[in-house]
Amino acid sequence: MDRVTDMPGTPARAARPGQANDYDGFAEAYMADNENNLQNAYYERPAMLALAGEVAGRRILDAGCGAGPLSAALRDRGADVTGIDASAGMLALARRRLGDDVDLRVCDLSDPLPFPDGAFDDVVASLVLHYLEDWGPTLAEMRRVLRPGGRLIASVHHPFVDYAIQAPGPTISRPPAISRISRSADSPSR
Ligand SMILES: C[S@@+](CC[C@H](N)C(=O)[O-])C[C@H]1O[C@@H](n2cnc3c(N)ncnc32)[C@H](O)[C@@H]1O
Repeated sequence: MDRVTDMPGTPARAARPGQANDYDGFAEAYMADNENNLQNAYYERPAMLALAGEVAGRRILDAGCGAGPLSAALRDRGADVTGIDASAGMLALARRRLGDDVDLRVCDLSDPLPFPDGAFDDVVASLVLHYLEDWGPTLAEMRRVLRPGGRLIASVHHPFVDYAIQAPGPTISRPPAISRISRSADSPSR
């Protein structure tokens, strides 16, 4: 496993060249959107932080940390954070955000994790597990690196999100309540 020390501008390198989710290819754009958008900044991240609760002094692995917004928030709350991600491009942005004192490593969650047993109090996995074909080995590894009684806090896309954004778009009937609102807005006299 590599320890990422690249600064932005260093050519991006995927943990597995040719992998389907090429975050290296749009790392900057993804980070810019993720920073303030409704689903990440106002829904998912606050929910993860609420679930994590009081984290001061806890050793936390941010699995699939991306550009590190959750790592930063956990660190600001006093946690000792380690971040791993398959995308060197995303990790370079995390490095820029978090500075040199955070352990950030290129690591594919399909592989064994490069940490000893019981190394963490918590593993957080924000919007990453749905990229894995087989969750079994990854969950086993997460359990191994958690201390007994440690916590896995995870979020995944709702399956309808992926269905709704696929091309060509799906045909979805409009729910009756929406139709009614739309009709009365278009034709108030009806
Ligand atoms: C939707 S982004 C979420 C990033 C971050 N957790 C956040 O909430 O801002 C998914 C992240 O998972 C990473 N990823 C995808 N497949 C992965 C894998 N097999 N192993 C490690 N990271 C992976 C991507 O590189 C990307 O940074």
